[in-house]
Amino acid sequence: MARQDAQRCRVGLIGAGTFGLRHSRFIARSDRAGLVAVADPTFGSDRPVPDELREVARYADHREMLARGDLDGVIVASPSEMHVAHALDCLDAGVAVLVEKPVAVDREQARPLLDRVAEDPRARVLVGHHRRHHPAVAAARSLIEEGRLGEIRAVAAVWATHKTDAYFEIEWRRRRPGGGMLLINLIHEVDLLRHLVGEITSVQAIASNKARGLEVEDTAGLALRFENGAIGTLVGSDSAVSPWGWDQATDDDPAFPYHPGQPCLLIAGSRGSVSVPDMTVFTQPEPSWLEPVAQSRVPVQGADAFARQLAHFADVAAGRARPLVTAEDALRSFEVVRTAAQSLAG
Ligand SMILES: NC(=O)c1ccc[n+]([C@@H]2O[C@H](COP(=O)([O-])OP(=O)(O)OC[C@H]3O[C@@H](n4cnc5c(N)ncnc54)[C@H](O)[C@@H]3O)[C@@H](O)[C@H]2O)c1
Repeated sequence: MARQDAQRCRVGLIGAGTFGLRHSRFIARSDRAGLVAVADPTFGSDRPVPDELREVARYADHREMLARGDLDGVIVASPSEMHVAHALDCLDAGVAVLVEKPVAVDREQARPLLDRVAEDPRARVLVGHHRRHHPAVAAARSLIEEGRLGEIRAVAAVWATHKTDAYFEIEWRRRRPGGGMLLINLIHEVDLLRHLVGEITSVQAIASNKARGLEVEDTAGLALRFENGAIGTLVGSDSAVSPWGWDQATDDDPAFPYHPGQPCLLIAGSRGSVSVPDMTVFTQPEPSWLEPVAQSRVPVQGADAFARQLAHFADVAAGRARPLVTAEDALRSFEVVRTAAQSLAG
């Protein structure tokens, strides 16, 4: 049964671009939240109002939107460089924030937000690493925590798809500090690997911009060492055709074609392994390369990481839950990507 309006989280949105509009569609499908206001400087121009936002109060300045005083939470989907400033404005207005990744584009920029969260118990910030809300991720984490795979030794992740040329017509996506597929895309894989395998203690990267010739990379590979001794590789490209990548292997985002059954993350331990998100599990009671491995599958019910993220945000905004992905946690994922990018320069 649909919830009464009074029980829904009253959401505002900062940034009505590609992903802000996507958020507005996720909210429209939700019975936990309702979109009541949206801010984007283009509303002061002759930009046509997107259909999704016709019934929503629109502002050219997000501070005017926040001054309404009736919002429970705000989603920040502005360009990455603006995330920290926008999130702080929301906290100043006493509103919970779901800030898109990356939480910041450099460590110093993030500091005031981290300090604010540490000092103010009413400051609630969730970062939009939505994949952590996917039930396959929870299932993989349980397998690992229960020791069914033994000690994790080796992991391999891939994210490869071919973005359209139109995607790069937006200026910030073509340059640093906000652009490039390391920070826009592979940060999600890094975050997932940290969540599942553990903290990353060293990273080295190689990258290429040969496909698009932009200032930022279009293809990259990362070599990773984890605190628990595991070794990992992560390879990605925004200019290669493949079904391998979270966006294709799940139906999280209807904007992308769904290729069910394709893995994008392989995790191998001393007693077994799992491929994610298809959740095929391989185990051996007595490890030996001369013996067959048993294969099984962990059923995953009710995916839709964005719906789950939104429901969680409604709980965070109402003070019923602590953020699954805090700003501090998300900054660690950013730091890995930043260190990887710095290793390119050397
Ligand atoms: N979680 C995910 O899977 C995911 C996917 C895509 C994008 N993102 C993130 O979402 C953010 C936005 O990405 P995008 O692709 O939608 O970018 P975009 O450029 O398409 O949209 C950004 C919007 O912000 C608006 N904007 C600019 N200045 C503003 C201001 N001062 N106040 C309010 N709005 C302002 C722009 O006019 C534009 O409409 C990025 O940080 C990106 O990393 C996350």
